[in-house]
Amino acid sequence: MQDIIRSHISAECPWRDTLHWYDTIDSTNTRAKELAKAGAPHGTVLIAGTQTGGRGRLGRSFSSPAGIGVYLSVILRPQCKPEELMHLTCAAGVAACQAVEKIAGICPDIKWANDLVWKTKKLGGILTELGIGFDRTVEYAVVGIGINCNQSLEDFPKDLQPIATSVRQMAGNPCSPALLAGALVESLYQMDSCLLSKQSKIMNTYRAYCITTGSDVSVVQGDVCRHGTALEVDDDGGLLVRFADGTVKAVSSGEVSIRGMYGYV
Ligand code: BTN
Repeated sequence: MQDIIRSHISAECPWRDTLHWYDTIDSTNTRAKELAKAGAPHGTVLIAGTQTGGRGRLGRSFSSPAGIGVYLSVILRPQCKPEELMHLTCAAGVAACQAVEKIAGICPDIKWANDLVWKTKKLGGILTELGIGFDRTVEYAVVGIGINCNQSLEDFPKDLQPIATSVRQMAGNPCSPALLAGALVESLYQMDSCLLSKQSKIMNTYRAYCITTGSDVSVVQGDVCRHGTALEVDDDGGLLVRFADGTVKAVSSGEVSIRGMYGYV
């Protein structure tokens, strides 16, 4: 499988030579963090056929059935402070949308901050994890992306069926996970090459894909749920929300999750 995925990545992309394939793994993000701590270089890519413990944001799980999804993590070593990487998850979302568009011919939307969506359903998600050094600079960043490729409705667990979709359902055609994984490696490589130098441009593209702004949202933090209107996404990826009492606050994706007032989106 490693060679098939490589054949879908152009020779100009150096990350095709640092690609690790796993038939089964608990979580590509967990393994990527272990490899990063052991010194794996920038651009090390891990891709799995299935994950037994796929993880999402805020401690959630990510359903990762064998052979019908893309489960990928990449290790980055940007030389900067963590504050300069606040937009990383958004940048990865842009890269993921562009990879899906290249393969399926249709561009998904983004539900702030890290969900790829189509219509009202989730197509995939992004989990970014940072390692910080003693000098308070970034030692490594792991960007993990999961995309549902070929699931039909009944392939999803019952509780996800009302809120999950796949590239196949979106485009009406089967989607090869290997082809999409190759496109994703290339688009992540391109994103990384301008991550720090073109933050505003990346965030303008993110804003064009993001469907959350302008809608009424529930902002959930622990047991507390507040209602408001999503106004804008700032250049650091924070969501500006006007709450019912009139106050406007930027909320960060590490702290809160967002629900539409009347459903998932
Ligand atoms: C989310 O939905 O909150 C994020 C989901 C991220 C899933 C991907 S799959 C590859 C990588 N490995 C993981 O365990 N998680 C990410």
